[in-house]
Amino acid sequence: MFHKPIIALDFKNMDDVNAFLRPFEEPLFVKIGMELFMQNGPEIVKIIRSQGHEIFLDLKLYDIPNTVRQAMFGLGKLDIQMVNVHAAGGKTMMSEAMQGLRDAGSDAKLIAVTQLTSTSESVMQKEQGIPLSIEECILNYATLTRDAGLDGVVCSANESKMLRDALGDDFFKVTPGIRTLTDAVGDQVRVATPEFAKENGSTHIVVGRSITQDSNPLEKYNQIKKVWENHVK
Ligand code: C5P
Repeated sequence: MFHKPIIALDFKNMDDVNAFLRPFEEPLFVKIGMELFMQNGPEIVKIIRSQGHEIFLDLKLYDIPNTVRQAMFGLGKLDIQMVNVHAAGGKTMMSEAMQGLRDAGSDAKLIAVTQLTSTSESVMQKEQGIPLSIEECILNYATLTRDAGLDGVVCSANESKMLRDALGDDFFKVTPGIRTLTDAVGDQVRVATPEFAKENGSTHIVVGRSITQDSNPLEKYNQIKKVWENHVK
């Protein structure tokens, strides 16, 4: 199934969001992260949703199961289409998160972050004390996520391949760090083109600066969407 590229709305305020969204005449799938949400509150979700856009609320919840269930109950009231937690919170926390969403009447997809892309293998081993390779840790967390009944994980395109082999095509593999060949890489370490992500089994791509910083965001979005939709796996 084709899922539109998810545009990361990494802007500080609603004025910047509005200026960015203005040229788009079709409903988009957008990601609202902590920066925008914490500075503008739930109201921003309501405003963007009322414009017809689908919303991935990227707040990466991580707390005791009861707290996360209640927080998800609140977020589930917001008419969002996707939201996430940290897999490190454990299986019970993840299934309680799902329960909170469903109790709110939400059918939003729930996905988990395994290891942040800013965490290197040596930091994971030394600071978190996890005696595994980063791939083993990601596979372990992704399997736990599937077993908790969630819909998928956030992962790089390289990890998508491993996770497709282990957990199948339907488990969501939502891949950020997308760049076209003409883009600057910026601070991302592991970047992939939309074609590479698709070939590796990513089910969704999250694209930020490649579109938001382009001189013609609408044209760049359409270019990426076309490639993502039509490229053969
Ligand atoms: O601008 P760029 O395309 O790099 O933005 C990617 C978006 O995906 C940002 O909002 C970033 O926070 C998010 N993200 C990421 N890597 C993860 C999880 C989320 O880049 N592992």
